[in-house]
Amino acid sequence: MPTDTDHGGDDLHLDRARAESFGAVAAAYDEHRPTYPTALIETVLNAPATGRRPLEVLDVGSGTGIAARQLRGAGAEVHAVEPDPDMAAIAESTGLAVEVATFEAWEPAGRSFDAVTFAQSFHWVEPTSAARKAWDVLRPGGALALMWNRYTELDPPRDAITAIDERHLAVTPSARPSEDREESVDELLRGMGFTVERHTFRSDRVMTTEAWLNLVFTYSRYVVLDDERRAAVRADLTALAGPDGVHLENDALVVLARKPG
Ligand SMILES: C[S@@+](CC[C@H](N)C(=O)[O-])C[C@H]1O[C@@H](n2cnc3c(N)ncnc32)[C@H](O)[C@@H]1O
Repeated sequence: MPTDTDHGGDDLHLDRARAESFGAVAAAYDEHRPTYPTALIETVLNAPATGRRPLEVLDVGSGTGIAARQLRGAGAEVHAVEPDPDMAAIAESTGLAVEVATFEAWEPAGRSFDAVTFAQSFHWVEPTSAARKAWDVLRPGGALALMWNRYTELDPPRDAITAIDERHLAVTPSARPSEDREESVDELLRGMGFTVERHTFRSDRVMTTEAWLNLVFTYSRYVVLDDERRAAVRADLTALAGPDGVHLENDALVVLARKPG
């Protein structure tokens, strides 16, 4: 199933109704969205060559703090930026320091960081100005990390889910980031002077039908539906998945962009 993890097209960030939808499901989001693979978090924290410990990380679009807590748990000092007050409140309740602002409006006030992370959030900002702002606040040798969990259903197959989406949704997001889109992000970052590498982390997971439904109904394209339409999608997905649960694969991705030292 295409998720909010997909990059969804070059102009997904222009769909502000979806970008700003998450607060409506903040508690469910925090409960049901998965964490990121431990090896991915380690890869991110091994990237900066600033010579500083603990690393100071700016986590942008931190939501309820899922990635931020993992980064903190691995030893980083995390500063979070999140525009939605309901998402931010959950992050703050776990002890994270959150500045409630979009990245565009956020004021660096002379601060700099060893890493800037976007977990499941880079597709919600305008990429060129966001990458430029990240460059500006990174210390020499610092790293920008764009990370996504990318879950795809294997059973039932994604095509069957896409067919349900096509029946109910005005716009069906692309199933996976297009090659063009991936290349354009890398090109953008290289053009600014970053060196860029990609790492993927594959895993399989079987979820109960209930757990899977709880997860997918935190995806923005369902959050923005009216109640009647959302119930109709849920009924179709429930019938499709049946009682046996859902088999998914996660091809988690981090795009690591290093600023020269
Ligand atoms: C899919 S959630 C990811 C949350 C968290 N990083 C995680 O990994 O669970 C995307 C987050 O980006 C935030 N967001 C949307 N537009 C943004 C912007 N312009 N600047 C910063 N964050 C933004 C949303 O409010 C939402 O909390």
